[in-house]
Amino acid sequence: LVAGIDSSTQSCKVVIVDSGTGATLRTGRASHPDGTEVSPSFWWTALLEALHDAGGLADVSSLAIAGQQHGMVLLDSEGRVVRDALLWNDTRSAVSAEALIAEFGAAALVERSGSVPVASLTSTKVRWVRDNEPEIAARVAAVALPHDWLSWRLRGYGPADESPLGPDLDQLVTDRSDASGTGYWSPAREAYDLDLFEAAFGRPACEAGSSELDGSLIVLPKVAAPEANTGTVHADYANGSEIIVGAGAGDNAAGALGLGVAAGDVVISLGTSGTVFAAAPAAVNDPSGTVAGFADAAGAYLPIAVTLNAARILSSVAELLAVSFDEFAQLALAAEPGSAGVVLVPYFEGERTPNLPNAKASFHGLSISSTTRANTARAAIEGMLCGLADGLDAVVASGVTAERLLLIGGAAQNPAVQAVAAQVFGVPVIVPAPGEYVARGAAVQAAWALDGARPTWELELDAAPVSDFHPVIREQYGVYSGV
Ligand code: XUL
Repeated sequence: LVAGIDSSTQSCKVVIVDSGTGATLRTGRASHPDGTEVSPSFWWTALLEALHDAGGLADVSSLAIAGQQHGMVLLDSEGRVVRDALLWNDTRSAVSAEALIAEFGAAALVERSGSVPVASLTSTKVRWVRDNEPEIAARVAAVALPHDWLSWRLRGYGPADESPLGPDLDQLVTDRSDASGTGYWSPAREAYDLDLFEAAFGRPACEAGSSELDGSLIVLPKVAAPEANTGTVHADYANGSEIIVGAGAGDNAAGALGLGVAAGDVVISLGTSGTVFAAAPAAVNDPSGTVAGFADAAGAYLPIAVTLNAARILSSVAELLAVSFDEFAQLALAAEPGSAGVVLVPYFEGERTPNLPNAKASFHGLSISSTTRANTARAAIEGMLCGLADGLDAVVASGVTAERLLLIGGAAQNPAVQAVAAQVFGVPVIVPAPGEYVARGAAVQAAWALDGARPTWELELDAAPVSDFHPVIREQYGVYSGV
């Protein structure tokens, strides 16, 4: 058996899978505090709880961890986390992104790192710490991402009083998909841009495992290949089993692995973030910055557009209307496409696509007759999906073919979301059966590390693609969205 783990913004999910057939045998889950600035210790506790909830690892031979991307985990030379992690949805470093663009130019940064920096990228977060918390910056000995840090801890490393093997920073490992989101790793060249890291943080760095590493350089995790075996789960956590630890991945790349995306497929994931991504054979450079040109977790590329606001738009508006999710869906389904002109521009937490980090949400088009609960509910769904439709256009413009959209993530199960998605995108939409596709992608990677060959697990998509295009929805959204 193999285990796949998804350490996301709000929870940790585990799937235990038969590596021969791909059948999911057990699952586990644990919530942890969320927000934009979080202590990584919560992820570690939730990981151990979720593994326990999944029945433990006694019969597991290999595992891999996928995680929320970009989160900045700063470690000191004793392996301690020196401040709470700033996550992908923390927009305070927008000013640092602007500073990096002013220093290097957007075109040069895209050429060197695959992305124009926005507040989500780790490079902007380390710059922010350098500029605003110099005494913390001075203590930093390594910069890791959420999934790197969890894999390292599970292999037994960490502060001496909390971990059996102690703080060997040289053992930090990441993978190409998550390294892509740092802003100082080049997907095209498959290498860190150490000069960019130094420009961002003000101190030189070196990749773990390098012979040049000495105590004066900041350690960046070694970037392992998708199929790598990076070590074993420490006996303290392994329930008596010998368990390989795969390289792990960023959550979106793991989702692509779990779904087995093929040419013509574009995935739209509706979680805490909203993402639009597809597999591409070559690295993508978008100087406009809308599409980030990430590497994937299988040796190819994953052009992606990301919104900061997705499922929580629906929970916020359901709360405003004082209804349950089921009632919210019924309300939205009772309104007509276009919500009688009511438009929600849903930039509740600032926005990344379009890049408006300081924006807030707003309702538009309200009239005495249009201001109904049903139109309000539908406008929330339309607003969430129109933002992603802009992202889809940008991903397609980067050279991807969209023959069908695979809609995943918690909000994809909402029947009103499914109906509106078919009306907004103009590309047939298919909703795969509910499943933990990110965790499943991590399980694919675990099986790959175990057997030396990428597994060919079949994914049954029993639904047929649906299209019911109503261009009016995006037309009226475009009047107010700031694009
Ligand atoms: C991707 C991104 C989000 C996080 C959420 O660039 O910022 O999708 O990975 O988990």
